[in-house]
Amino acid sequence: MNKQLSIDLLNKAVADELQAVHQYMYFHFHLDDQGFAPLAMLFKRIAVQEMGHVERLAERILFLKGDVKMGLAGEVESIRDAEQMVARAARMEEESAAAYNKWALECSANADSASKQMFEALVADEEGHYDIFDKQLDNIKRFGPNYLALQSFDSAGPAAGPEGGAK
Ligand SMILES: [Fe+2]
Ligand SMILES: [Fe+2]
Repeated sequence: MNKQLSIDLLNKAVADELQAVHQYMYFHFHLDDQGFAPLAMLFKRIAVQEMGHVERLAERILFLKGDVKMGLAGEVESIRDAEQMVARAARMEEESAAAYNKWALECSANADSASKQMFEALVADEEGHYDIFDKQLDNIKRFGPNYLALQSFDSAGPAAGPEGGAK
């Protein structure tokens, strides 16, 4: 096994995961500000899961006697439209799953089965995330932009119902 080869792949995944954490938290802040509380919480919840992925990758990198590179894969995109956020997130998850599938094969060819299995587990998680965002996109397409407004209405609680709280 060439340890450095595995460490480099694992660090590329760390950058990808950190990118997702930052992008999803950016979406979380703006959705919260716009009153889309449930969607804001969804992004926060998934950002925390991506942070868990960073931790698993970091543990493996340190086991292989490498060091964890904490840089992001790119810039955080300034997307403010809720539907565009969900579409961007679905694409990010698809791209991560595709990359991790490829890197699992590279770890296998490098006789590093533990890293291979880690990438395979991440593929399953990212496909799960993709599915969540894809379902949200479907709902927005089926029910129109009002779908997101209704979501924020539901979360506002009884005080903000039709009888009170209206501005
Ligand atoms: Fe992830
Ligand atoms: Fe993900």
